[in-house]
Amino acid sequence: MNLIFLGPPGAGKGTLAAKAVGILKVPHISTGNIFRAAIAAQSPLGLNVKAIIDAGKLVNDEITIELVKERLAQEDAQKGYILDGFPRTIPQAEALAGFSRVDTVVNFDLPDGSVLERLGGRRVCRQCGVNYHQTFNPPKKTDVCDACGGEVYTRDDDREEAVAKRLEVYRDQTAPLIDYYRQKGLLTGVDARPSVDQVVENFRKAVGV
Ligand code: AP5
Ligand code: MG
Ligand code: ZN
Repeated sequence: MNLIFLGPPGAGKGTLAAKAVGILKVPHISTGNIFRAAIAAQSPLGLNVKAIIDAGKLVNDEITIELVKERLAQEDAQKGYILDGFPRTIPQAEALAGFSRVDTVVNFDLPDGSVLERLGGRRVCRQCGVNYHQTFNPPKKTDVCDACGGEVYTRDDDREEAVAKRLEVYRDQTAPLIDYYRQKGLLTGVDARPSVDQVVENFRKAVGV
């Protein structure tokens, strides 16, 4: 099954994708995680995109589309995938349609107030990318990842100014994808407000898995 996870920053796309991987046995492909790994490795891509991401702006379509095209061509993505954070613009969606067939687009709905609450307390593992929350889902040992023992930190783009910019960019460039995919008959909505376990249930019902 080829799935796209759509939704505002902090809606829980990454958290849900980690759960859905266990259910669907397909890879979780997060463009945000790929960019953050490139930044950590100080690769040419990472050096190129760091300032853009820290400011909460979008990386340009050309770079992002090429990256996803290459990733979806890999062996493990042939049996299906969960795309988290891509597409994020209409040109990205149109490009994707040219190289892959999307089955369902899951739109995670969350009001702005909850977005701020979730991003305000988010912590992320520097090594494996797993998400935590200082109040809702803290790691067992302070600042240490339960999954891999890596260091748990606050993302640079979770600062208040960057979050405001990300929400603005989401409204201007990404939210139009909701109607775009609705018109194609691919959209299904999931209420992202309840607990993680409940959102997983909502997701299973919406997608029929
Ligand atoms: P990206 O990493 O994709 O960030 P985002 O879309 O802003 O989404 P987030 O990762 O912030 O939120 P999420 O929905 O995954 O929520 P999470 O599960 O962490 O992109 C980062 C940047 O990369 C972009 O700004 C851009 O610069 C660049 N980029 C990426 N893709 C691009 C593209 N296609 N084109 C151009 N540029 C691109 O959850 C949030 C918090 O809430 C966590 O703390 C979690 O523990 C908690 N939580 C989750 N669910 C629940 C729940 N049900 N109840 C309570 N707490 C919860
Ligand atoms: Mg994420
Ligand atoms: Zn980890």
